[in-house]
Amino acid sequence: MLIRLNDEKVIRVEKIGLNHAGMLVKFGNKMRSEAPYDSHGLIHKRYTLKMEIKLIKRQMKNHHSPYIAISNGEVVGVADINSMGGELSRHVAYCGYVVAKEFRGTGLAYFLIYAAAKHAKRSIKTVLAAILPQNKASVYFFKHCGGIEVGKFKKTIFSKCSGRYYDEIYMQVPLAGLIKNSNRMWKLKGIKEKL
Ligand SMILES: CC(C)(COP(=O)(O)OP(=O)(O)OC[C@H]1O[C@@H](n2cnc3c(N)ncnc32)[C@H](O)[C@@H]1OP(=O)(O)O)[C@@H](O)C(=O)NCCC(=O)NCCS
Repeated sequence: MLIRLNDEKVIRVEKIGLNHAGMLVKFGNKMRSEAPYDSHGLIHKRYTLKMEIKLIKRQMKNHHSPYIAISNGEVVGVADINSMGGELSRHVAYCGYVVAKEFRGTGLAYFLIYAAAKHAKRSIKTVLAAILPQNKASVYFFKHCGGIEVGKFKKTIFSKCSGRYYDEIYMQVPLAGLIKNSNRMWKLKGIKEKL
């Protein structure tokens, strides 16, 4: 599908497929090389095409629904709703999202999470996000999606880059609430669906 941002830029949003592997490697490595929060980059590892293809195949096999945004032939954002699986937790999913710096504040992140949530497996009822407290943009973003903070885990992340442990905030929203709120947010930010 095509969408038009407030500044008239047209973006293609589609479900991730193997044809996106090359573009995703470039985007992923660009994102990883940026200092993501107000601290060190957490991950040094660079992705290869082989790793990306393996990841996409696994996502396809597990019926994940990552959605990707493309502008001028380059990936500018990705969002995923990733079911935890397992007999007791089939109704629970983690979500992940990232947009390129130039596209932050445009509402694109809300559109991507909306697309992923809308096409998530029917069995999913509740969506979790695990966020570093210093990642204010992500905390506010997920709050705008209807997420509420349900707890904090201590030292659940270890970064080889900084040699430090990090805490994580857990946030949660019912899938229906995520769809409703993200839908409201991208419209509020002035995104239009281009028919
Ligand atoms: C998280 C992310 C997808 C959000 O997308 P976005 O386009 O920036 O979303 P928004 O424009 O709604 O910004 C989120 C909110 O955080 C606020 N914000 C952004 N950076 C901030 C900062 N450093 N300090 C405080 N608030 C901040 C924004 O003002 C906005 O709040 P508002 O709508 O009330 O004004 C994007 O910032 C991103 O890709 N970050 C890097 C990857 C990442 O951290 N992913 C999540 C891992 S858990």
